[in-house]
Amino acid sequence: MAVPALRGVSLDVQRGEFVAIMGPSGCGKSTLLHLLGGLLSPTTGSIHIDGEDLSKVSDAKRTDIRRRKIGFVFQRFNLFPTLTAEGNLKLAEKIHTGNGAHSADRRHEVLRLLKLEGKMRHKPLELSGGEQQRVALARAIINSPAIILADEPTGNLDSENSEIVLDMFKELNEKFRQTIIMITHNPEAAAVASRIIRMRDGHIVEE
Ligand SMILES: Nc1ncnc2c1ncn2[C@@H]1O[C@H](COP(=O)(O)OP(=O)(O)OP(=O)(O)O)[C@@H](O)[C@H]1O
Ligand SMILES: [Mg+2]
Repeated sequence: MAVPALRGVSLDVQRGEFVAIMGPSGCGKSTLLHLLGGLLSPTTGSIHIDGEDLSKVSDAKRTDIRRRKIGFVFQRFNLFPTLTAEGNLKLAEKIHTGNGAHSADRRHEVLRLLKLEGKMRHKPLELSGGEQQRVALARAIINSPAIILADEPTGNLDSENSEIVLDMFKELNEKFRQTIIMITHNPEAAAVASRIIRMRDGHIVEE
């Protein structure tokens, strides 16, 4: 029997908002984020980005919208194991532009920002969990997406590195008006957001 992960969820996010999503394990947070990013399709209901209904467009078009507009930080990082940290960023750039990667300068700047400058040539298995998480973050922001969807982006980070990541999100949000939707279990991380949404059992229970 099919078990619904989400029911009756209605959510409007404006450009430039910084939203935190909180709630117990299994309540549907990652499922909601995957739907918002067009990685899953809802059985009923619809998802609109800039007026386009993701559930009405072709798979190819949905993929294109995701590549152009969204940077995704996965709960399990999803880095390519055979590529180095820099190689993972290059691949994200190639997917985004449809051809070559940008100059190495931009990549090195982002890796420096996340304190990974000494780790550029390391593959995921040669990196700690927190370092892998920061490479996944670098990959999500490298193409300056209009929307950043982050699933527990500080879950594997110590307080110092969490602060670096949250400051970075804040700056991207304030300076460049990038929209951020971030799942977190950490109240201090949620406090950085301008809006907190709480979920339980597949519902939004509080704003
Ligand atoms: N592909 C799937 N097939 C079947 N059930 C699924 C699938 N993905 C998620 N679920 C179920 O949907 C519910 C919500 O899962 P989800 O991953 O969204 O939770 P979450 O709030 O992100 O939890 P956590 O904080 O542990 O990451 C869970 O009960 C989960 O077992
Ligand atoms: Mg989750």
